[in-house]
This record gives sequence, structure tokens and C-alpha cells, in this order.
Amino acid sequence: MRLTLTVNGAEALIEVAPHSTLLNVLRDELVLTGTKEGCDEGECGACTVLVDGEAVDACLLVALSVDGAEIETVEGLTSEEGTLSALQEAFITAGGVQCGFCTPGLLMTLTALLRENPSPSNDEIREAISGNICRCTGYAQIIEAVGSVARQENGR
Ligand code: FES
Ligand code: FES
Repeated sequence: MRLTLTVNGAEALIEVAPHSTLLNVLRDELVLTGTKEGCDEGECGACTVLVDGEAVDACLLVALSVDGAEIETVEGLTSEEGTLSALQEAFITAGGVQCGFCTPGLLMTLTALLRENPSPSNDEIREAISGNICRCTGYAQIIEAVGSVARQENGR
């Protein structure tokens, strides 16, 4: 069946099986492998992408159910020239990346948070990432990274 998506600003027309998930389409059809497959059942958040601006688990979405949607993946956070987003830079600076498996999902969850709330409290950050599991337990550094972006944005 024919699926139309806008992925990181570019239109994509893809033939998909009726049961394909958005995660399958992104990784297998569009070769956007930055989005990770962890549990494949909505528990770990490794597959988080933005669908029309909202952070969702791509492993839980039947691709055809989001036909016509605007999708943002971790690849879309970096400019065409390769410049990292402020949040990506902050993850590196704060040591918020260890093995990195959870990182794309966390970046997408937190990108959505910062768009909605440019000055989140630590509790709001914790709440936002409650569905993203970091097996390396780098939560303190991740929260510090988000805080530093919020401080930059607010000139503090
Ligand atoms: S792979 Fe989707 S939530 Fe774990
Ligand atoms: S950095 Fe390894 S799972 Fe989070």
C-alpha cells in the first residue's frame, strides 16, 4: 500500500505492508537508522520520533495510520552542514551520552519538551523522559544537558 510522509522536511512515497510500523519504515525503507529498535513494545523509548511535533514510540504506530504526517527523526536535528543542535551539543558537553543507544530517543523527547517549555524544571524533565530508559543510567547528565540549553536560551 502507498504511504506518504514528510520526513525531516522531505516528502517520501513508500510502498508498505499493512502491518508495517513507522519504525520499520524509517529504519528499513528510508534507512534512517538513527532511530533505534529496543523493546519493540512501547516500553523503552529508544524508537521515539516526532509525529506532527509530538513525541511518540514509532514501534507502536502502524505506518499507514500516520499517512500524510510530518515526521522528525534524530537525523533531522543536525543541519545539512553537519552542525549539531544545541541539545545535541549539550549532551556531549554534559556527558549525557554513554553507549548512545537511548540517545536518539531522548533527544527527540527532549526536543519536543523544549519547544513546548523552554525552561523546564528538573521535575518536568524527569517526567518528560519517564518513558525513555537509559540502561547506562546517565539521567543526571541528561538533566544537566537540558538545563544548560534552557539557560542558554534564556540568557542565564
Ligand atoms: S523500541 Fe519502541 S518503545 Fe522500545
Ligand atoms: S547511554 Fe547507554 S542506554 Fe543510555
